[in-house]
Amino acid sequence: MSGRIAVVGSNMVDLITYVTRMPDKGETIEAPNFALGCGGKGANQAIAAARLGADVLMVTRVGDDIFADNTIANFKANGIDTRFVRKVPGTPSGVAPIFVEQNGENSILIVKGANAHLSPADVEEAGEALKGCALILMQLEVPLETIYATVAFGAAHGIPTLLNPAPAVPELDVERLRTLSFLTPNETELAILSGMPVASETEVEAAARSLIAKGVRTVIVTMGARGALLVEEKGATRIAPVRVTPKDTTGAGDAFIGSFAHYYTQNGDIAAALRKAVRYAADSITRNGTQSSYATLAEFEAFCATIDA
Ligand code: RIB
Ligand code: NA
Repeated sequence: MSGRIAVVGSNMVDLITYVTRMPDKGETIEAPNFALGCGGKGANQAIAAARLGADVLMVTRVGDDIFADNTIANFKANGIDTRFVRKVPGTPSGVAPIFVEQNGENSILIVKGANAHLSPADVEEAGEALKGCALILMQLEVPLETIYATVAFGAAHGIPTLLNPAPAVPELDVERLRTLSFLTPNETELAILSGMPVASETEVEAAARSLIAKGVRTVIVTMGARGALLVEEKGATRIAPVRVTPKDTTGAGDAFIGSFAHYYTQNGDIAAALRKAVRYAADSITRNGTQSSYATLAEFEAFCATIDA
């Protein structure tokens, strides 16, 4: 194995405000810090994989504003193939105002902008390039029709597909996800997708199994500081967490998916790739920002050495 990773997904400009607390309605308060960065779940996952050395193809839409060229330049600087990054005339780029509190927890608003224009036709146009990929990653910051078209494309051409169902979109039709290779919900998303309770680990596994019964090959439930649960037809595997002191958890979920994709496409070992992904995501929360917190391969190996020591 080993091969190209495609992302059919979003890009956003992250407007990150570090707050001591959130203002009340009608109140103005001062925040100590601000950072502008490249983000968006699709782009983040692409960058995480690329920083580790993956060959990545990005299918996305930017606006025609001051952010667009910077986003494209950022992809290129990380070695990502931008042939299918297209501009939408007269439309703003996607943006995400983000508020990070002192304990590292965040609240995010997303304005899709150009991402709302990524269409099934864009997927078709990238078809030849997508056929050469080992895995296609998706998230839910682009139209659902585009997700369904990409899932169908993967099934038609035998290309593994992964959907990170974030942010949660209640209208998502699970029936149209039957041929997915990987579905990677967090517990909240799992509850919405399955319509089942997820209060205990037994319930989480049962809810994941209900999705496998529908046809999804592998369900990976991300559980934040509690690690992850890999659920396959043959059984469930608990992936232990790595403890770090969080500084900024923004984009940790994307670090997890992007690094998982990279390691999985190297040799097809799902559990081993998940153990790497838990570590990669943990490392990212020790630094501020989204993509700015994603380690290169050398930095990641140095982090792993401190854990294994
Ligand atoms: O998952 C984190 C990302 O969510 C941020 O980069 C923000 O852009 C939103 O898409
Ligand atoms: Na971070």
